[in-house]
Amino acid sequence: MPLQDTQGRPLKNLRLSVTDRCNLRCLYCMPEEHYTWLPREDVLSFREISDLVDVFCDLGVDKVRITGGEPLVRRDLPVLVEELARKRRIRDLALTTNGVLLADAAADLKRAGLLRVTVSLDTLRPERFLALARQDALARVLLGIEALGRAGFTRTRIDSVLLRGMNDDEILDLLDFGREAGAEVRFIEYMDVGGATRWSAGAVVAQGEILRRIEEARGPAQALPASPGEESAPAKRFRLADGTVFGVIASTTTPFCATCDRSRLTADGTWYLCLYARQGVDLKTPLRQNASREQLARVIAAGWEKRADRGAEERLALRERAPPLPRQALEGDPRLEMHTRGG
Ligand code: GTP
Ligand code: 5AD
Ligand code: SF4
Repeated sequence: MPLQDTQGRPLKNLRLSVTDRCNLRCLYCMPEEHYTWLPREDVLSFREISDLVDVFCDLGVDKVRITGGEPLVRRDLPVLVEELARKRRIRDLALTTNGVLLADAAADLKRAGLLRVTVSLDTLRPERFLALARQDALARVLLGIEALGRAGFTRTRIDSVLLRGMNDDEILDLLDFGREAGAEVRFIEYMDVGGATRWSAGAVVAQGEILRRIEEARGPAQALPASPGEESAPAKRFRLADGTVFGVIASTTTPFCATCDRSRLTADGTWYLCLYARQGVDLKTPLRQNASREQLARVIAAGWEKRADRGAEERLALRERAPPLPRQALEGDPRLEMHTRGG
């Protein structure tokens, strides 16, 4: 009997944050000047991550996504990828990156056995990139995306968070860019999560509006059924008459909590059962006290069986939505930040 939570949701999809550091400062994710970082000695080694992943696979995990912060700032990341790619029970091994360091890393990642890459890219205009991510790095990201094709990656995705008044006039440009680059673009609703202290309801561009704007310019968008094995995916996918396929991730207005099979491990080995959860399960302590694989499995299974989280739905039910956490709370616990939880 596969492991299930209190809502009958299986444990399938594990997001592994390998560092909380990032080389960008996207406004929707890291709007502040200063951050509290995880202490370096708390960050799990590749050996420790790999051992924990084995336990997760024992319990049903078959999809792993490497995230950050920015995962490519973690030294020797392809070494970890190679280790994970050897695990037969992982049928999908992917990476989410901001692309800044990708041009030099793409070939090594492919050789190491990585299957798919998702690049975050919110604008195609250099000055806007600088305003949004606070680094003048657009050209490097574009080279990174180009390098993916050369390295032999397919099924590349581009994730674009839309902010009203910031980049919502680039929906069509991003669509066209994705088609040319051979990547599927997914438009993401701005979420009131983690350290998004500048979030406001007015800044969200909702799924309905995204679709309307695309359809006005490009004709009807046909909704596609979920591909097999992707039924719990956050993106709804659509096809235009010219064949362009794109996705919308509407976590803010249309949460997918009912089918959410994902959990996330922070770089310091804290396991979160929901993107919005205030508390996580400490796996680093038992791991470093040499708990056996069975003991770790019991901790994880007990956590999942108790899981009742429906974080995005609870946010939606609020009458007044505002940034979820005050600065002081975020400074007191770096794991509340989206960039520590892995986006
Ligand atoms: P694939 O479907 O396997 O490609 O992965 P993915 O869609 O999880 O990839 P990605 O890391 O690109 O995530 C896309 C976006 O979905 C994130 O940036 C978040 O905005 C949103 N998202 C990811 N995980 C969660 C989650 O647990 N809850 C909610 N509400 N949104 C999430
Ligand atoms: N709203 C939506 N997506 C966010 N991300 C980070 N912060 C937010 C937010 N407030 C996501 C982006 C980025 C990924 C790493 O994390 O999709 O691409
Ligand atoms: Fe931007 Fe990702 Fe870095 Fe957050 S973690 S600042 S979303 S690149």
